[in-house]
Formats: sequence, structure tokens, C-alpha cells
Amino acid sequence: MKKDFLTVWDLSSKEISLLIERSLELKRGGDKFDNFPLKGKSAGLIFEKSSTRTRVSFEVAIYQLGGQPIFLNSNDIQLKRGESVADTARVLSGYLDCIIIRTYAHERIIEFAGNSSVPVINGLTDKHHPCQVLADIMTIREKRGKFEGASVAYIGDGNNVANSLLEISSLLGIHLIIACPEGYEPDAEVLDRTRSTGKNEIILLKNPKEAVGAADVIYTDVWISMGDNESDVKKKEKFRKYQINDELLSCAKRDVIVLHCLPAHRGEEITSEVLDGPKSAVFDQSENRLHTQKALLELLVASKED
Ligand code: CP
Ligand code: NVA
Repeated sequence: MKKDFLTVWDLSSKEISLLIERSLELKRGGDKFDNFPLKGKSAGLIFEKSSTRTRVSFEVAIYQLGGQPIFLNSNDIQLKRGESVADTARVLSGYLDCIIIRTYAHERIIEFAGNSSVPVINGLTDKHHPCQVLADIMTIREKRGKFEGASVAYIGDGNNVANSLLEISSLLGIHLIIACPEGYEPDAEVLDRTRSTGKNEIILLKNPKEAVGAADVIYTDVWISMGDNESDVKKKEKFRKYQINDELLSCAKRDVIVLHCLPAHRGEEITSEVLDGPKSAVFDQSENRLHTQKALLELLVASKED
């Protein structure tokens, strides 16, 4: 039976742990890809929003695993002219072995996956960004030697990245402290479900200085996400004191590492001094997208028939 990856919950904690170890092995070059696990397979990428990292890392991952990536800009396919999500999914899964989608409403990818006979991977929706947090956990594992028991302070908007971070943290036993202005908390349903697992500590605060005090990792993302109102000046004003800067880092542990999923808005949620500074693991984190995409494709696409 096909297996989708629409949210973090689609994998077990064991599968994620194995996937992280496999990603590290792939990064070390331990596998020379001489068996090309995606040989003869094609994967489609339907993107209804912009992307640099997700698109390119998936395209390269598919190529390096021996498969064919087919980028489908949503403006160029009949979906744009009103062909239904269900019909598109049924047709494309007759040609392709895997479909990666970046879209707006999360319900849209659920509908697509429900009508697809091949694995569907979430390349970001308004509510979730599960592929991103696989690379984030790999980066924590790489920098700290382990991710279990780590303490992560997420400072900023309770958006898709925050929701997926909540899910993966609760699955893996990573403590999460979220600092955001009132009204910008992560999704209530995600919070309820993650809190009920009881595997980690989840703390919501308003004060970013308090949040970073005991953290091993500080994480942030843009204040205005794709699909949000780009000229929301009032929102940016509310986030002003949530910037990751040297003053905030002075309240954190000396060996803290800083993550950002990118793209960054330098001077808004993070300063250039921090992003380019010695505590930043951001560019390792972005490189790790490639290795985790490969491990994910191996798990969902290659291992089924090879
Ligand atoms: N982090 C991330 O998903 O980046 P892109 O929007 O460039 O894909
Ligand atoms: N929260 C951001 C993440 C971009 C990778 C957005 O959705 O635009």
C-alpha cells in the first residue's frame, strides 16, 4: 500500500530516527548510489507557491537516486484552468511514481492524496512543512550528537514550520518552548494533539528572552509567510521584539545553535550578524534538505518495489 507524507504524524518515531541516520550516512557519502533506487521511476513536483530549497533539493535528490524529476508549475497545467484536484491526482498517478506538492490549504493536499494511487509528499502547505523539520532534526543530531532530550526555543510566528516542529518534537521527545505575540500561537488542533502525547514538554511564552534561557537550539522563521498579507505592517510591528539578534543570544547558552528554514528576511526576524555568525547552523540546515529528501524518497518510493 502506498504511504504518503502529508504531516509528521505519517511516520513513526522509529521511522524518523532511522531516516535521520540514513540521511547522515548519505551525507557522508557512504552510499555511492550504484544501485540507483529510483531507476526507471518518475516523480512530479506540483508547486503552487515559490520555492528554492524544496524544489531544487527534491529535483537533485530524485536525479541522484536515478529517477526523473518533472517540475509542474501550477500555472502550466490544467489545474490552473479548473481541472479538479481529484481528476489531476488520478491522471498523474497513472504516469508518476511519486508526487510532491506545495500548495495553500492543507485540505487540498489531503484531497489530492486521497485520489492518488502513488505516494504524495507535502512540500509545504499553509498548515504544515514536514519535510523541513526532518532536515532540522538532522541538523540538531549532526551538531549535538543526538536530538533526544534537546531543548528548542522557537521564536516567532506560529505558522506551518512551527506546527510541524511541534509535531516532530512531541514524537521524538524534544522539549519545545515557543515565544510569540498573543494571537500568533501555532494551530490549536496541532497544539492539543501534540500536548496529549506527553512525550515532551511544550511551553508557550510571550517573552523571547525567557524562552531562550535554557535552549540548546534557537529557531525562527519569517513573520509573513507565503499566502499571508505581504503588507501587514501591524503584524511586523507586533513581532519587533521577537528578532533573533546578538542581544537575544546574550540571554542564551554559549553553545546554542541557531536555525532558520530560510528564506530569511534579514533585519526582520533575524539579523545578518546572527545568520552569518558562529552560532548559525542555517546553511548546514539548508544543505541537509537534500539528504533528508533522499532518505524520504528511499523510504516511500524506492523500497516498495526494489
Ligand atoms: N525552507 C524552504 O522550504 O525553502 P523554499 O521555500 O525555498 O523551498
Ligand atoms: N513559513 C514560511 C516557510 C517558507 C519555507 C512560508 O510558508 O512562507
